[in-house]
Amino acid sequence: MDMLMFQLEKNSSIPLYEQLYKEIKKSIIEGVIPVHTKLPSKRKLAEFLMLSQTTIELAYAQLVAEGYIIAKPRIGYFVEDVEDLAYIETKKAVISSIKEPSPTIEIDFHPGHIDTASFPFTIWRKYAKDAIDFHEKDLLLIGSPQGEFSLREEIAHYLYQSRGIHCSPEQIVIGSGTEQLLPMMMKLFGDYNVYAIENPGYKLTHHIFTQYYQKTIAIDVDEDGINIHDLECTQANIAYVTPSHQFPTGAVLSASRRAQLLNWAAEKDNRFIIEDDYDSEFRYVGKPISSLQSMDHRETVIYISTFSKSLMPSLRIAFFVLPPQLLTRYNDLFTYYTSTVPRFEQHILAQFMKDGHFAKHLNRMRKIYRKKIEKLTLALSHYAPTVKISGEQAGMHIVLTVIHSQSASTLAKIALQQGIRIAPIDHYRMTPSNLVTQKKDFLLGFGGIDEQLIIPSIHRLMNAWQISRQQ
Ligand SMILES: Cc1ncc(COP(=O)(O)O)c(C=O)c1O
Repeated sequence: MDMLMFQLEKNSSIPLYEQLYKEIKKSIIEGVIPVHTKLPSKRKLAEFLMLSQTTIELAYAQLVAEGYIIAKPRIGYFVEDVEDLAYIETKKAVISSIKEPSPTIEIDFHPGHIDTASFPFTIWRKYAKDAIDFHEKDLLLIGSPQGEFSLREEIAHYLYQSRGIHCSPEQIVIGSGTEQLLPMMMKLFGDYNVYAIENPGYKLTHHIFTQYYQKTIAIDVDEDGINIHDLECTQANIAYVTPSHQFPTGAVLSASRRAQLLNWAAEKDNRFIIEDDYDSEFRYVGKPISSLQSMDHRETVIYISTFSKSLMPSLRIAFFVLPPQLLTRYNDLFTYYTSTVPRFEQHILAQFMKDGHFAKHLNRMRKIYRKKIEKLTLALSHYAPTVKISGEQAGMHIVLTVIHSQSASTLAKIALQQGIRIAPIDHYRMTPSNLVTQKKDFLLGFGGIDEQLIIPSIHRLMNAWQISRQQ
């Protein structure tokens, strides 16, 4: 071959030798330069392309290293037979070309986000330093499989004060998140159980139960929470519920249903309730809702909660409270395991709670989230009655209902094109809803949105959906 003609970009951030190497490689793969062809000498190609000989040398060296060409001493460079490689390369190109570019998310209504701007870093840093200064070598060794006793003591104290739960630190098990504690519970319950889960509900729970080959039955939720009559008609013997603030609808399980649910559990020895109290710290209206656990006199409720909402999701600290009847089984099964949460983090949190900073942080965050919800309500009120909200009494998300001719998934796509992420409630359904209605429900998490941006974000969303102001 006399010469190779390529357009290389001298101003590109990609080095010239790399551009040249890629061009020659592509030509070999596509058969433009046939197998066994002799490539131009380094000097000639350098002159022709007006590049330095070093550039050509580097490009050829890369091609030799990857087996596209072979160097024959004092004769020159020849193209190798690279059929297999060529196939892989072509495939790669196809895969990457069908990848859809993901739109940039500027406004994220994801329910898992918290207000990161308000985290008490200075105090946390102090306790992190203290954990090292005061505990040093102690914390290098494996701690209790149930979690550090000092943290369990603080949690027990906090649960009594804020949720009316009487429990001892011995009943508490700390783990790295609800998602890690649920499989542990399943082991504790043993085989042949049928789990009732809320529909719509927390998808991760459903996912975990099915991944562990557990039978699940989805029970519909209405404005009073999970339908107990439907539950009673099933074979389920363990119910997973979010009674204080149903995820995602925000419904509070009504007093009569609470009693019905506890009675259902008390009817048979193998019946239990898993009470997921994931965000009860944030209640903006009325008195805190009592936990089911505090109403249970028959030891049927396993209470589970997390610091993902109250502090930060990356902390990976959650816990459950076992009724005494399950403690022996827990001790038999789990004492050989080690805790999944690092001892340092547990000590930081224990001391943070002990010195009253957790309570202060919650009070502060409650005010911040209340303000956000007020702004959200105000912004959305301009679009009533086309738009309605519910579940705004607690937590860090609300349900947004809009009357629209487009489907909820189309509306979510439209929002995404405008840089807004918002999920239809249908995403949280275990079984698709057959209901065809003009009303489209969305889960709108507001925790991670800056307070100042709430009103403009809502107007931008309404604009994207072409919903005009009514008031
Ligand atoms: C219903 C529910 N349970 C639990 C959690 C927290 O899970 P984890 O402790 O694994 O972060 C969440 C978080 O969004 C949730 O929505």
